[in-house]
Amino acid sequence: MKLLKKILIGLLIIFIAVQFYRPEKNISKENDTVAFMQETNPPEEVRVILKNACFDCHSNNTIYPWYNNIAPVSFWLADHIEEGKSELNFSDWQNYSEKKKDHKLEELYEEVERKSMPLNEYTWIHEEAKLSEKEIEAVVKWAKDTRSLYQLGNLPK
Ligand code: HEC
Repeated sequence: MKLLKKILIGLLIIFIAVQFYRPEKNISKENDTVAFMQETNPPEEVRVILKNACFDCHSNNTIYPWYNNIAPVSFWLADHIEEGKSELNFSDWQNYSEKKKDHKLEELYEEVERKSMPLNEYTWIHEEAKLSEKEIEAVVKWAKDTRSLYQLGNLPK
């Protein structure tokens, strides 16, 4: 019993100590998804979906939940965001080649179609990010149409 108490106190001290460490937040001052939105011109419905369900992990601006103030949750979220952005960053769209844009749009609709994105851990908390069949269809259609524009080299500049 004495040992258990020591262990618990030890854990509590570690928990408190780790609260002093904060991963850097993914927040930039610019509204830097504008270039992506202009170029791929999603219909309003798709814009809202991308904003509500994808940008937190795939852009330079995350809207953080309150529990991001608690370590180790903060580290877990930071990790997801870093990994998500390294795969696809809508804030960096203007620096992708046409070929990469085309490929990312292909991955995008595949992920959404098979319901791998948004991540389940995310939709547990963010109800609004759960996509209906109709919403999935709208995203897939937009991504496919936009791909064909890249393939034809036909996007408005
Ligand atoms: C909670 C964070 C989070 C959210 C929200 C999220 N993603 Fe992701 N996304 C990730 C992570 C992490 C990866 C890399 C690991 C993986 O593929 O599971 C990823 C990978 C991807 C990839 C690359 C997959 C591949 O083929 O390698 C695409 C495309 C993608 N996400 C699209 C989306 C779209 C579209 C949405 C919104 C409908 C979305 N994501 C929402 C975290 C997220």
